[in-house]
Amino acid sequence: MKTQILILIIVVLEFSSSLPQNQKKNVLIIVADDLGFNDVSYRGSNEIPTYNIDALAYGGIVLDRFYTAPMCTPSRSALMTGKYPFHTGMQNFVIVSDEPWGLPLNEKVMPQYFKEAGYSTHLIGKWHLGLYKEPYTPMQRGYDTFFGYHGPYIGYFDYTHKMFTRNYSRGYDLRRNANIEWRNDRVYATDMFTKEAVALIENLNNKNPFFMMVNHLAPHAGNEDVPLEAKEEDIKQFSYIKNPRRQILSAMVKSLDDSVGEIVLSLRRKNLLDDTIIIFYSDNGGPTEFLHSTTASNYPLKGQKQSAWEGGIRTAAIIHAPFLPQGVIRNRYFYIADFLPTLLTISNANVNISTPIDGMDLSNMLMNDRPPYRDEVLTIDDVFEYSSYIRGDFKLVNGSSSEDGIADKWLGSNNNTNVNAANYVFNVLNSKTAKALKYSLTERKISCLRKRTVVKCGNNVANNCNLLEGPCLFNIINDPCEKVNLATTQKAMMTSMLESFNEKLKTVVPALRKPPNPNCDPIFFNLTWTNWDDYPPHILDF
Ligand SMILES: *[C@@H]1O[C@H](CO)[C@@H](O)[C@H](O)[C@H]1NC(C)=O
Ligand SMILES: *[C@@H]1O[C@H](CO)[C@@H](O)[C@H](O)[C@H]1NC(C)=O
Ligand SMILES: *[C@@H]1O[C@H](CO)[C@@H](O)[C@H](O)[C@H]1NC(C)=O
Ligand SMILES: *[C@@H]1O[C@H](CO)[C@@H](O)[C@H](O)[C@H]1NC(C)=O
Ligand SMILES: *[C@@H]1O[C@H](CO)[C@@H](O)[C@H](O)[C@H]1NC(C)=O
Repeated sequence: MKTQILILIIVVLEFSSSLPQNQKKNVLIIVADDLGFNDVSYRGSNEIPTYNIDALAYGGIVLDRFYTAPMCTPSRSALMTGKYPFHTGMQNFVIVSDEPWGLPLNEKVMPQYFKEAGYSTHLIGKWHLGLYKEPYTPMQRGYDTFFGYHGPYIGYFDYTHKMFTRNYSRGYDLRRNANIEWRNDRVYATDMFTKEAVALIENLNNKNPFFMMVNHLAPHAGNEDVPLEAKEEDIKQFSYIKNPRRQILSAMVKSLDDSVGEIVLSLRRKNLLDDTIIIFYSDNGGPTEFLHSTTASNYPLKGQKQSAWEGGIRTAAIIHAPFLPQGVIRNRYFYIADFLPTLLTISNANVNISTPIDGMDLSNMLMNDRPPYRDEVLTIDDVFEYSSYIRGDFKLVNGSSSEDGIADKWLGSNNNTNVNAANYVFNVLNSKTAKALKYSLTERKISCLRKRTVVKCGNNVANNCNLLEGPCLFNIINDPCEKVNLATTQKAMMTSMLESFNEKLKTVVPALRKPPNPNCDPIFFNLTWTNWDDYPPHILDF
């Protein structure tokens, strides 16, 4: 009897972590743009080694079932507001630079909450939540400093954005705070943003906590004339990859991985690692085909960016802090909107969210694998008519996002083996991240974690799901690769899922997307992308 009680107490001590009291913790979020699920190596892929990202994963918490929206603008709006994109009008496609709309100004966003808690707030890299009028831009939305671009993407060496669907001039899009920053040194964008982040960290005044986002361009495609851009010396390392475009993508991912190592190391130099929560994630799945395709691979997940398949919405995500569990995998659902309430709790920011949000505070799940848990994840683009609804183990998928359903399948490569694959664990342990974290992880523990994060599809033969004919149903816990359509074999579940989904659809607010306005043309603004709708149309006064 006594022994049993003793064991119970030990178990409780062992597994119940508690949050630090009082002191506010820094928050650093590093976002990858369009990174494929299979384009990091911590989940077992030997194609593109990402030793620094992987070291962060093994030393922190892997969010195994992390879900985002399937495209950039909706995804970033959910992070910022804690709400589903279809509850703020942000659900359709993305903000194209000639469209007069943005994240509604009555939405309070993540940096504003942290600012209210006394944090200094910084954004480096991409915004893409509205540029046409100044109030929509980062300096007016809670950021103290900004260095980056307002639009969807820029060239990696020239920082311009050219819309190939229109006849507008090519426009420069790089700013420091509210103003254009002219540079012609052709520093590779990923390195440029990394240097800014490191410099910012080095110059921090340690009196106030900080909230910092590093929204990388990488590995999103650049402009359509040169979509894939990397440093020559990096591309050479990937000759074992057969597809020459994928060699360049791999080099783009390598720079991203180097960036993570540099930034974590700079936190170590400033002795800030003990007080900083670090998050790394990708905003949506990788685009293997079509618009802005990069050869990204979400294999073995189905589909890709701009689809409600797992390949579009289940992405890489890691959270690391010394006061959170380390070397663990959390396989409960975590939706991108959950970051807002969860981070406000674990950082001790001590501000309340006063409007209803969709995000859940999952801090107890992170700390202790205890409830509340998220049970549902919704993806809805009611304009392009594709959606999915996850509830419990099941996922309803409705409507195809690709013409004739050509992307409703498994895309992307998985069979080019990196020449250093045998030294994988050694290279992780020697990465900048691992050294900065000074970790005590053994080789065995790393190998074990890596094996446990591999997605296993099972041996079932894929069957008859055709979204052009009707919605499909999957058990994504047993069948994460969405192979076996249960729509006809599990009729009762299908009916119940459709009924609840139809209820959810009633809460969708109309999409805010607006028709293009040619007054945005950079030709009117000294060849820059600016808050064009604040100016009288067609005045060439430069
Ligand atoms: C661009 O201008 C050319 C020549 O005026 C025209 O033929 C073409 O259709 C235009 N393209 C677009 C995308 O507007
Ligand atoms: C947040 O809400 C709780 C409960 O309503 C309250 O006790 C606390 O004082 C509030 N905190 C702030 C910073 O407003
Ligand atoms: C479901 O798919 C059908 C096409 O198969 C489409 O007409 C409908 O709008 C879709 N609904 C949603 C909410 O995606
Ligand atoms: C490797 O993957 C590519 C792309 O998925 C595929 O076309 C090719 O047949 C595969 N090669 C082998 C040897 O499996
Ligand atoms: C116009 O653009 C050039 C670079 O192309 C820059 O040097 C100049 O300062 C800009 N002029 C104004 C008024 O912003």
